[in-house]
Amino acid sequence: MRTVITLAMNKSRLLPKKFRQEDNRFPENLVALFLEEYTKPGDKIIDIFAGFGTTLFVAEEMKRIPYGIELSKVRFEYVKDHLVNKANMYNINSKNIDKLNLPMMDFAFSSPTYMNKFEKKNPLTGFTENVTYQDYLDFIQVIYSKLKLIMRKDSYIIIEVSNLKNNDILTTLAWDIGKKIAKILSFQGEIIINWETPREKKPNGSYGYGFDHSYCLVFRKIE
Ligand SMILES: C[S@@+](CC[C@H](N)C(=O)[O-])C[C@H]1O[C@@H](n2cnc3c(N)ncnc32)[C@H](O)[C@@H]1O
Repeated sequence: MRTVITLAMNKSRLLPKKFRQEDNRFPENLVALFLEEYTKPGDKIIDIFAGFGTTLFVAEEMKRIPYGIELSKVRFEYVKDHLVNKANMYNINSKNIDKLNLPMMDFAFSSPTYMNKFEKKNPLTGFTENVTYQDYLDFIQVIYSKLKLIMRKDSYIIIEVSNLKNNDILTTLAWDIGKKIAKILSFQGEIIINWETPREKKPNGSYGYGFDHSYCLVFRKIE
């Protein structure tokens, strides 16, 4: 796989009106690319931050078996309603994934909710608890260490993430998550996604968050 890839930021699935303001999906073309490269039909694919279900819908279209975890009840219900494998969708916090008794997974693809270093509420609990940025990074590490338990040996775990630039304050989120997860999974390198969006549509970077690109951090469960 190339390490710099240009993709159009085009989402083909239309979200219901009530969700359009909060559309933080990655496009289907990104998921399709990675599923093509790393998986085969019949493989079990998990997204532990399922959101509006992009990973799961593409997995199903490509004859893989999707599993999803989503904290938000309304998003969970939307995905479950539209998924064929409805029983594989769970409305819990991913930090409790070890309580689900899931089968071993062949591939994981997810993008967590981002946090700037100056923010105070934890995006990983639905913004209900006060946390520091360091707590947030620790929380992500706990979630991925539990995910690791249900990943097949030698499987790949991909995290889509960006650094964040907000009013000239930089949060090196991609680096920080990368370092945290590299303590528990083997880091294999990054793939840079150069997002093609007309600049006039997103003046603060065609991806958003101040940048035109994001990263797919590639990890592997070696042991
Ligand atoms: C960036 S969005 C993912 C969007 C998804 N990739 C898509 O294309 O629809 C992150 C999602 O993770 C969910 N989330 C955040 N913390 C969570 C947690 N601890 N457990 C499960 N889901 C969580 C959020 O509610 C949000 O929907």
